[in-house]
Amino acid sequence: MKVTNAEITISAVSQKQYPGGFLPEIALAGRSNVGKSSFINKLIQRKSLARTSSKPGKTQTLNFYKINGLFYFVDVPGYGYAQVSKKEREKWGQMLEEYFQTRETLKAVLLITDIRHEPTKDDIQMYDYLKYFNLDVIVIATKADKIPKGKKEQYLKRTRKVLQMDQTDPVIAFSSQTGEGKEAAWGVIKQYL
Ligand code: GTP
Ligand code: MG
Repeated sequence: MKVTNAEITISAVSQKQYPGGFLPEIALAGRSNVGKSSFINKLIQRKSLARTSSKPGKTQTLNFYKINGLFYFVDVPGYGYAQVSKKEREKWGQMLEEYFQTRETLKAVLLITDIRHEPTKDDIQMYDYLKYFNLDVIVIATKADKIPKGKKEQYLKRTRKVLQMDQTDPVIAFSSQTGEGKEAAWGVIKQYL
């Protein structure tokens, strides 16, 4: 997709702040620092519309990015970040629950994992959680630039196996650095728009 317009509509912490209207939404979930915001930037070819950081915990709110006036990418704060208090974690849990359980315009969730590592307990929990709410899940195994090409299939297989993914759920190798997987990702996203 050629993105000609991308803008942040709102950073929301609760339902009443979500954008109105009926545009479809694609949300990004995944461990903190895994590359969710970088994924958005790469797809829309903007260096830093979605704020990224080498330190985990950069995205703290539900950030709604309107793309071509056609749909929203929703950047969701990451999990598995050690330096958060119990109270903050509870707040995070409530914010996600409210979003994933009630948002009717949410069409699919891109679960971003790190291709180099076995999916974590938190990744497995998130995958199961999303499936429990009958959401369509697409796994994006990012940072593919950091592994030898020859290992890719093996790592993708491991991701599938550890998450116990449904056969029909896609998993795509991706890199925000090289753009690998970008067309494949758009291909899946377009099916929901
Ligand atoms: P939170 O907002 O904290 O949840 O993190 P995030 O998932 O949005 O991660 P972010 O996009 O901010 O990226 C975290 C770090 O990983 C940054 O230093 C990025 O440059 C780096 N990064 C993201 N994607 C890739 C990738 O595909 N390859 C490489 N080599 N680095 C990446
Ligand atoms: Mg982020």
